[in-house]
Amino acid sequence: MTENKIFKENLTSKLLQKQALRVLMKLNKKNVCEIGCGDGNISNFLLSNLKKTHYFHISDISRSAIIQAKKKIDYNNIIFKVGNLFSPWKEKKFDLVISDVSSLSQPVADKSPWYKGVKSDCGVDGLKNVNKLMKQINKYLKPDGILVIPLISLSNTIELKKKLKKKFKYLKESKRTYWPIPKFFKQNIRLFDKLLEKKIIYYEEKFGIYLAYTSIAICKKLKDNSVR
Ligand SMILES: C[S@@+](CC[C@H](N)C(=O)[O-])C[C@H]1O[C@@H](n2cnc3c(N)ncnc32)[C@H](O)[C@@H]1O
Repeated sequence: MTENKIFKENLTSKLLQKQALRVLMKLNKKNVCEIGCGDGNISNFLLSNLKKTHYFHISDISRSAIIQAKKKIDYNNIIFKVGNLFSPWKEKKFDLVISDVSSLSQPVADKSPWYKGVKSDCGVDGLKNVNKLMKQINKYLKPDGILVIPLISLSNTIELKKKLKKKFKYLKESKRTYWPIPKFFKQNIRLFDKLLEKKIIYYEEKFGIYLAYTSIAICKKLKDNSVR
């Protein structure tokens, strides 16, 4: 399938906007990196709501997404790049990394309308990209830097939280927001029930409606500062 469609701003984007703004409001002149920026809505929101100067670096594997982000964002201190995960940012060190890279359980992403034409190679647990980011994070995040990343229950959040706690001294999880999953879910429920049974994803059913949740993890202070 060609992957030239641009992901549409959704609830996770909005939760990331809100939490990243809370973090950045308290800081000044920081190096910010957003991985998996799509159309740039998160950085655009931050830049529209921040009074202080920061230096933004935003990237996505999709060229069309970056073209769109460039159209959306009007700001001097920003660099746009196309590329895989951290690879566009060699030699850079950031104070804040926002990750919104594709991270849904792949069987869910495959059946969903969200990822039609959008790159998503996330593995059954949804964590393939995030695991790679975690392996590289010491190189790109300053020792006292902050990572803002979503915990989406249609991926393995138990495993992701374990990994984040291994990497960072502090992890604060925002309140969970529950949201109704569109009808493709019910249509493929047998497949998803198997993932639920294996605790790979999590959802609930209430009055015939399937609900998932998203929260945002704010992770501070790398435990091990060494770069391997
Ligand atoms: C969940 S969407 C988020 C997009 C945007 N942040 C938003 O809120 O609309 C995930 C994004 O990650 C990008 N992506 C997927 N794999 C990637 C990779 N290996 N490296 C960088 N970006 C990637 C996709 O192209 C997509 O734009």
